[in-house]
Amino acid sequence: MNSVEGKIALVSGGARGLGGMSARKLAEAGAKVVITDIREEEAAETLDVIAKAGGTAKFIRHDVAIEEEWAAAVKFAVDEFGGLDIVVNNAGVASAARPLEELSLDSWRRLMSINLDGVFLGIKHAIPPIRERAGRWPGGGSIINISSIMGFIGGARSAAYCASKGGVRLLTKAAALELAPAKIRVNSVHPGFIDTPLLRGGVEAADKRMEGGGQHFIDGIVARHPIGRLGQEEDIANAVRFLASDDSAFMTGTEVVVDGGYLAQ
Ligand SMILES: NC(=O)c1ccc[n+]([C@@H]2O[C@H](COP(=O)([O-])OP(=O)(O)OC[C@H]3O[C@@H](n4cnc5c(N)ncnc54)[C@H](O)[C@@H]3O)[C@@H](O)[C@H]2O)c1
Repeated sequence: MNSVEGKIALVSGGARGLGGMSARKLAEAGAKVVITDIREEEAAETLDVIAKAGGTAKFIRHDVAIEEEWAAAVKFAVDEFGGLDIVVNNAGVASAARPLEELSLDSWRRLMSINLDGVFLGIKHAIPPIRERAGRWPGGGSIINISSIMGFIGGARSAAYCASKGGVRLLTKAAALELAPAKIRVNSVHPGFIDTPLLRGGVEAADKRMEGGGQHFIDGIVARHPIGRLGQEEDIANAVRFLASDDSAFMTGTEVVVDGGYLAQ
């Protein structure tokens, strides 16, 4: 089930967190994986975990906000593994909570350049090689964009992040319509709050700024998830692997929400 045997995948921001776990799950399910990231040390650790589990993965340093680096990353996948079938546009950053009137245009643009431009560029550069091999698979090629529950709902003091993730949601639909004739599926994944280094950064900040500290911050977040816990990296990576596989062959332009019930309320 959810096999990606013989396929070639690229995971942006694949050094750690949701990208790291997605790379591991894809490799475990038979894909050859290119991990791209700006964090070389953590990428090396993830490569090591994959190799020890018998999987195949390679790393290229890549900033998703830079178009030439996207061209180089896609070329790397084609040169090293012979093509491309799956792209997981996962790299993303959170912004420090900040009132709108104090948000500088520079920090707005910096966040957009990673969270939204990075996904646009990932789709754009992946199309030619994915299209070339899409006919081989019952489910065609697959592009998976990591959005967020914040692509559906707003959050005070998180304007740039919410705007970027809402943008990813509709960019996904537009791309899905355009690429369906080429047998390339495009879907978005919307995690609730997941226990990753990104979230732990928020806990550390809360430890300094909030009464009750990081534990209070976490308890407040858990309380908003009816399932009663934080998400784990596997919860998201399993959804990514499903969307990458032919088991999701009839799914395109849709949102896969993995949030412990957060948005159902
Ligand atoms: N953790 C959560 O609760 C959560 C919830 C919803 C959505 N998300 C989204 O999931 C994705 C992964 O988040 P995570 O929690 O694993 O974060 P993380 O910080 O643990 O991992 C993100 C990875 O992206 C990389 N990255 C950042 N900027 C980059 C750039 N310019 N170019 C290339 N790589 C870059 C980082 O180096 C890091 O390895 C993000 O898009 C995030 O917005 C996370």
